[in-house]
Amino acid sequence: MDQHQERVDRIARAISQLKALLIFILVAITLVPIILLYGDDIMKGIDNELQARRQTVLITEELPKEVFWTAPDPGSVKDVSLQAQIAYGKELIAHTAKYLGPKGIVMQISNGMNCQNCHLDAGTKVFGNNYGAVSSTYPKFRARSGTSENIYKRVNDCFERSLNGKGLDTLSREMQAIKAYITFLGSDVPKGSVPNGTGLKQLAYLDRAANPENGKAIYNAKCVTCHQADGQGQMAADGLEYTYPPLWGPHSYNDGAGLYRISTFAKYARFNMPLGVSHSSPLLTEDEAWDVAAFVNSQSRPHIKVPRDWPDISKKPVDHPFGPYGDPFTEKQHKYGPFKHILEEQKKSMTTAQK
Ligand code: HEC
Ligand code: HEC
Repeated sequence: MDQHQERVDRIARAISQLKALLIFILVAITLVPIILLYGDDIMKGIDNELQARRQTVLITEELPKEVFWTAPDPGSVKDVSLQAQIAYGKELIAHTAKYLGPKGIVMQISNGMNCQNCHLDAGTKVFGNNYGAVSSTYPKFRARSGTSENIYKRVNDCFERSLNGKGLDTLSREMQAIKAYITFLGSDVPKGSVPNGTGLKQLAYLDRAANPENGKAIYNAKCVTCHQADGQGQMAADGLEYTYPPLWGPHSYNDGAGLYRISTFAKYARFNMPLGVSHSSPLLTEDEAWDVAAFVNSQSRPHIKVPRDWPDISKKPVDHPFGPYGDPFTEKQHKYGPFKHILEEQKKSMTTAQK
């Protein structure tokens, strides 16, 4: 390369450096007054922006996630004899028939079902009819008996109706163990409170009557493999407990049981059946749950005489299928619905009574 070319290149480089410097100075000259005039505002703007972003993060983090009741750990009980009593109570809930069923090794006072058949995972499953709110809410007034009921009375209600059997003596080792277990399950729950996820999940009423015919088709499609075509369930090989409990017939719950009301059955089934579903993953639609409830509760089952139930007839739940009622609706409508009309009528008569 000759010298001349080199000089030309150097000059070109110098010019381009000068250009860059000029641009820089120009920009600086324009920016300095802007910064001097508006600098504070700009910084405030940036600050606000950062703060807003921080807040969005906080807000999304603090969005209340739905929290559900969970059972405490029986291993946390320090007192050894109490721990053993709680463990026996849990065993009786999970395997009632083995101890207290028709071939029970302690007593024969019930129909072969287990409490756990309806109070899933020994009464600990979220919305699986668990016992999370029992200790915090009993003794409580129940309109069915018209009296204040303690835990013993409530447990024996299920023995006599859901297990179509006899109640336990309050002082028996078995009743004391069941009470200890249920009380333990609620030991973290403040008196009077009902934590989210306890008991059964609510279900809206349909605008129509529940339809047993539709329910039969649903039963045959979604329940029959386990509960069987005749609804009698299936015994385990040992002949002591059911692998699949009966839904009707002589070994099922009687017509005074909670599940015999179709709203209770529908709430239980929608969020727990077929076995394995939960409240967050239901398989039955709401309509299907009501219809299958209507079908199952139209089959034959044991009858219990409970003439003292609902001493105040105006307190009967809308779907209690036995009259007399304080309203003009039939037993049939009280059994299958539509319930909305009955509820509206009840509301009206309540407001007239208040006037
Ligand atoms: C056939 C089903 C079924 C069986 C079996 C059953 N229960 Fe129940 N139990 C229910 C229903 C339904 C309710 C009422 C749920 C509702 O109305 O929210 C209930 C309610 C209860 C309650 C009151 C719960 C509360 O929060 O108020 C207790 C305690 C109870 N059962 C104990 C037992 C015991 C102990 C056994 C076994 C001896 C048992 N149950 C067996 C269906 C059953
Ligand atoms: C995969 C088998 C299976 C299927 C399918 C199934 N269930 Fe169940 N069901 C069970 C078992 C097992 C239990 C008892 C749970 C336990 O003891 O832990 C039960 C319990 C019940 C109970 C309470 C106990 C009783 O016998 O009254 C009802 C009610 C019930 N099922 C209704 C239904 C309905 C309605 C359907 C169809 C929509 C259905 N189940 C489908 C296995 C099944």
